[in-house]
This record gives sequence, C-alpha cells and structure tokens, in this order.
Amino acid sequence: MLRRGEFDIEVRKDGIEIWITQMGDFMNMNTAVIDRVNKIVAIIDPFDSEIWFNELKKEDLCPTHILYTHTHRDHTWGYSKMIELIPDIEVWGHGDANFKGTGREGLFGKVDFTSTWKNSPNNSVEWSEGKITLHVTHSPGHAPGHVTFHGHGIYHAGDLLFTAHSGRVDLPGSDPMAQLDSLKHARKLLSSLPQEWRLIPGHRYDWIDGTTPDWVTIEEALDSNFSLNDDSVTSSFV
Ligand SMILES: [Fe+2]
Repeated sequence: MLRRGEFDIEVRKDGIEIWITQMGDFMNMNTAVIDRVNKIVAIIDPFDSEIWFNELKKEDLCPTHILYTHTHRDHTWGYSKMIELIPDIEVWGHGDANFKGTGREGLFGKVDFTSTWKNSPNNSVEWSEGKITLHVTHSPGHAPGHVTFHGHGIYHAGDLLFTAHSGRVDLPGSDPMAQLDSLKHARKLLSSLPQEWRLIPGHRYDWIDGTTPDWVTIEEALDSNFSLNDDSVTSSFV
C-alpha cells in the first residue's frame, strides 16, 4: 500500500512511464503518464501539486498537462498551486464538467480548462501527445462530464469505479440513470481490454477481502466489483 507521497513507477515496453501515488485525507489516487523522450507529463487529478512538481523535478521532468476525470473539489485540489507553479500548463476536462447548477458551491472546484472533450456519453475519443495515447471515455452519472482514461496498461476510473464499488450518485449534478449506463458501458469496455491491466480507482477504498490495495487488475474488478456484477448492470449481457 503506497504511503502518502510514495510513487509506484512502471516503465512500459513502449517507453511510456506510469507513475501512481495516493494523496490527501480522501485517499485520492493520482496517475501520471509520462513520455520522457518528448518531456510530456500528463497528470490525472493531481491532488498535491507541490509534491508532484518536486518529485518530477528530481528526474528533470515537469508537468505539461492536467487531465481531469471530473471537477469535484477533492479532485481539483491541486489546481491553483499547479497554475502558480506552471502558469502555461494545459488543462483538459470534459465540456460538461463545469457544473453550474444549485449545490455546486463547496462540492465543485473552479477550473479553467484550456481544452475540452465534447464526446457524448459512453463514447471514447483519443488524446495524444508525444508517444502517449489515452482513450477518454465520457462516463457521466457520479458527476457531469465525468471521464475515464485508458491506455499504456492502466484504466484510471476516477469516481466511476473504485476497486470494489462505484461512485455515489446522490450529489448535486449526479444522475443515477446515466451512472447505470456508464457502468454497463464500463463492463463492456473493461472486458475488451487486456485483463492484467491495472484499474486505478479515484479513491483507495477497501477491496472485497477487507484489504486496501492501491489498484486491482481489470480481471479482478470484472470478477468481484459489486457494482459491475449487480444485476442491473449485467442484465444487458443476458
Ligand atoms: Fe467525485
């Protein structure tokens, strides 16, 4: 189990590096996808930007992109510090993610995207920079404009999925029916990916056996995640 500020680093055969860490009191999981040759560092939902910045600096790297799964405050926590450190960093999120409805105060963080994705629910678009290619899947329900990312051996689920459960849908801007569709689509998508890839949850919560792993394999999630195996989700496969 990763300690706060500890990084798991995997160098893939294609040279892309995956850095994973856990930060903050809400046990947020952060993933960075790095193309060292082209000096591209894309961080998903950076929580503590100063720790990220300093750790990368030791390797002569610097964040170039922030990719947001959604804009709940615990996921955008590191935004202002990152902008202070790197004013020209690219900031990406889905066009629907800046929720303007009642109840946004306190729940959503203010983020100025420099670029947005506009794909419809349960459709994926490619995001490429240098040798990095990630698939961005619009997966609303927990929050408007929620997306997941997959590629280079990982599926970063944000708050769509944790290792054993799925994200709550009782918050302002949540949509339980959209979440059900997103979970059905996720089950199909995950079934099509290499089963040994890692599913990185938005938060590190307990697994089915009471342990608290940082991630599980896609195979393990498909076998045992309670939400992915709920009748309401699996019924479309009958
Ligand atoms: Fe969230």
